[in-house]
Amino acid sequence: MTKSMGVDVGGTGIKGGIVDLTTGELVSDRLKIATPQPATPEAVAETVAEVVRRSGWNGPVGCALPSVVRNGIVESAANIDKSWIGRDGVSLLASAVGTRISLINDADAAGIAEMRWGAGEGHSGVVLLLTFGTGIGSALFIDGRLVPNTELGHLQMWGDSAEERASAVARQDHDLSWRDWAEIVNEYLDYVESLFWPELIIVGGGVSKRADRWVPLLETNAELIPAELLNNAGIAGAAARCVEVHG
Ligand code: BGC
Repeated sequence: MTKSMGVDVGGTGIKGGIVDLTTGELVSDRLKIATPQPATPEAVAETVAEVVRRSGWNGPVGCALPSVVRNGIVESAANIDKSWIGRDGVSLLASAVGTRISLINDADAAGIAEMRWGAGEGHSGVVLLLTFGTGIGSALFIDGRLVPNTELGHLQMWGDSAEERASAVARQDHDLSWRDWAEIVNEYLDYVESLFWPELIIVGGGVSKRADRWVPLLETNAELIPAELLNNAGIAGAAARCVEVHG
């Protein structure tokens, strides 16, 4: 069994586990520590190191961040401290954890996992994963290959980033019914479809646990299906990426 470790840094929790890369399933406990506030680079790196220590893993680790990551450099920071921007995330995490690190956007990680073991398995052509949580994350694939850092939650709509109105947290903040929120999401999906014309859209994120409440209300040209891996997609995808990078 090939195994790897993934850690998914979110706005509220830092979650990690050891992943069986044949099935995408966790073969350790799912470890979770609250994200330190403020979520500065040093504080997050220490918490990632603690998650790895608790797992007993000592090989390379794949990390996912809610950020654009280009050549290991963190280029944006939507739900973590702004002081991440411009930092060399790979070097920072590698020295805190004491092992080799790979770093990827969290939605890209979830997308890799869904394409390999979940709703996107075996799909070629243009596939788009959208995660609805605190923000909206996106992962775009063409014939199974990722186009990284698409950041479609930040498309400008309604005078702001689309995620300000169409994320799952925006539904709660604005106290919207599932139906009212689905109407907003439909407008968003319409715009996204007009730009990329995906053949398949996979919707995931925390809110996909309650997919039955809102996914049937969505209207798209493309086929649309809920994600399958739920909570662990980010961890599993980060672990898979780590093996691509470090073997
Ligand atoms: C961030 C993305 C992230 C998404 C989901 C957005 O606000 O800009 O990088 O993938 O939230 O966490």
